Amino acid sequence: MNEIYVKELFSLDGKRAVITGASSGIGRGVAVSLANFGAKVALLGRNQKGLDETARLVQEAGGVSESYIVDVSDKAAVDRFYDAYLARHGGVDILVANAGVNIRGEFQETTMEEVDTLINTNFKGVLYHVIRAGEAMKEQRSGNIVIMSSVNGISAMPNLAIYSSVKYGLEGLTRAVAGSLAEYGVRVNSCAPGVVLTAINENIYAVEENLRKKMEAIPMKKIGYPKDIGDTVAAMVSDAFGLMTGTTVLVDGGEHLRAKQPQSVPGKS
Ligand SMILES: NC(=O)c1ccc[n+]([C@@H]2O[C@H](COP(=O)([O-])OP(=O)(O)OC[C@H]3O[C@@H](n4cnc5c(N)ncnc54)[C@H](OP(=O)(O)O)[C@@H]3O)[C@@H](O)[C@H]2O)c1
Repeated sequence: MNEIYVKELFSLDGKRAVITGASSGIGRGVAVSLANFGAKVALLGRNQKGLDETARLVQEAGGVSESYIVDVSDKAAVDRFYDAYLARHGGVDILVANAGVNIRGEFQETTMEEVDTLINTNFKGVLYHVIRAGEAMKEQRSGNIVIMSSVNGISAMPNLAIYSSVKYGLEGLTRAVAGSLAEYGVRVNSCAPGVVLTAINENIYAVEENLRKKMEAIPMKKIGYPKDIGDTVAAMVSDAFGLMTGTTVLVDGGEHLRAKQPQSVPGKS
């Protein structure tokens, strides 16, 4: 193997990365992976204790981080963050817009307050970051944005009706923004995980029976961990994927295949 070639292809050395929802789960995994690939990571969240733990793990990986308390659903707070961050660092190379909440329910069961929470956090909370980071990247004529979608944004789940709908919205946002920023050398893609064990679903998968049933429904019979998503995102924003924009990388052990393909009946065509 040509180690120098591989290292240069995947290197994120010195890249300035902003990660939302870095105080827990997938965002924490992304922060550690980006740091392992050489990026300097800004960890965003609302919970200082969670951010401190991520900072400790980044340091353990030999990386450098700084933490910011920012509520993604508060546009003024997001603007204040970018004013401070860009003044300090002079630009931003990577945005991973990952923060999100999960509210379950069929479409007619979900309250309008829950709909507002999902739209304000999972959609507007991504959009505010994409606008500010995208603007800075356009000016510097380089950059990478990854929007955290979901397998439910590709194949909707009836019991996650509004969550799925908002993730479909993020898929549209990914393509629209990718089209606007491509000529400025800015790549925009989404990452769509299947089940990843984090705080967002611990109440469900702590029940062994639920975990077993879910595993059965996944073709690879594997549940995801934050590191799986983190390493994928690190590769997506590296030069190894330098021509990829406006697309979705599904990281779900094949879960979407099962949902889309009817099972064949033995003996019948
Ligand atoms: N786990 C899965 O199976 C799975 C599958 C597909 C997609 N996803 C997506 O992956 C993303 C991360 O989820 P996760 O599984 O890692 O869940 P998690 O462990 O609960 O993490 C959610 C993160 O979002 C942050 N967050 C939530 N609301 C926020 C707000 N208003 N302002 C700022 N930060 C906020 C939380 O930070 P604070 O607690 O500090 O506020 C936390 O860091 C979400 O977008 C989710 O939809 C997850």
